[in-house]
Amino acid sequence: MTGFPSVRLRRLRRLPALRDLVRQTRLTPDRFVAPLFVRAGAGLREEITSLPGVHRLSPDEAVAESQELVDLGIPAVILFGIPEKKDEVGSEAWEEGAAVQETVRRVKREAPGLVVATDVCLDEYTSHGHCGVVRDGEVDNDATLPLLARTALSHARAGVDVVAPSDMMDGRVTAIRRALDDDGYGSVAILSYAAKFASAFYGPFREAADSAPKFGDRRGYQMDPGNGREAMREIALDLEEGADAVMVKPALAYLDVLREARRRFDVPLAAYNVSGEYAMVKAAAARGWIEERRIALEILTSIVRAGADFVLTYHAKDAARWLREG
Ligand code: PBG
Repeated sequence: MTGFPSVRLRRLRRLPALRDLVRQTRLTPDRFVAPLFVRAGAGLREEITSLPGVHRLSPDEAVAESQELVDLGIPAVILFGIPEKKDEVGSEAWEEGAAVQETVRRVKREAPGLVVATDVCLDEYTSHGHCGVVRDGEVDNDATLPLLARTALSHARAGVDVVAPSDMMDGRVTAIRRALDDDGYGSVAILSYAAKFASAFYGPFREAADSAPKFGDRRGYQMDPGNGREAMREIALDLEEGADAVMVKPALAYLDVLREARRRFDVPLAAYNVSGEYAMVKAAAARGWIEERRIALEILTSIVRAGADFVLTYHAKDAARWLREG
């Protein structure tokens, strides 16, 4: 006998424990990476208006936050720097004593066991807000590569585990891999923001990092939102260049890209549940229009179901708590 009435899929949905047993995608805190914004100083914990619940932290506060994350079972952080000064080339990005480098040293010392990743990009550090060196009104790809390599190397010297270039310059993985290997940092991994789209979903992050471009936009280097197939070329090239893991960003509006990447590449795959995705949930929840907890967990489940091995998310801490409460 086939089909109804012998076949009834509702039988296994009857009890909570039955549903637990047959769940195909399980969300666990060990898939989360928490983004932290760090700036120089001490005792600083400033809430970011556009990202309620997310703060700019001084290195000591970032250590305290990291210890909380460890206690919640979250295995990794990714650090973004808020510089003290900006200039044409973004030179604070590779300063040994800057906030990111200082935080890497301290977190590795005081919260050992936590994986520390760093965003490698110049946009937070440049006065014009672009991700590289600007020449004649354009971001010069090849002139930017040595600066990215230098930035990654300064993070490696501070003890970082994973560097994550987010600039979308061609050839940055090769440039960074060479620089790391030449200096004896062959075990530092590269998580490439391989398929990063020119997205309006980064709006709240740019407010947090004060990194909105002062002229033009990023469409000359980040990907066109219509180009799902080109994303596969970007990923393939970054893997050829030596990326250890690759990322699709943003997540929610690009789940098809994530799914296709999962199907084609048997490599660790990350997704970035970006600031705009988080801010939309927060804003609607604050008005009582949606249930934050259920929506956030449903979104994170969808990202994992689409194929992500791990997810960078501003909901990491809350989601870990909610999952623990069950
Ligand atoms: C670049 C970078 C950005 C984000 C991560 N790395 C901003 C951009 O490309 O404009 C966005 C992350 C988010 O929106 O949460 N350093």
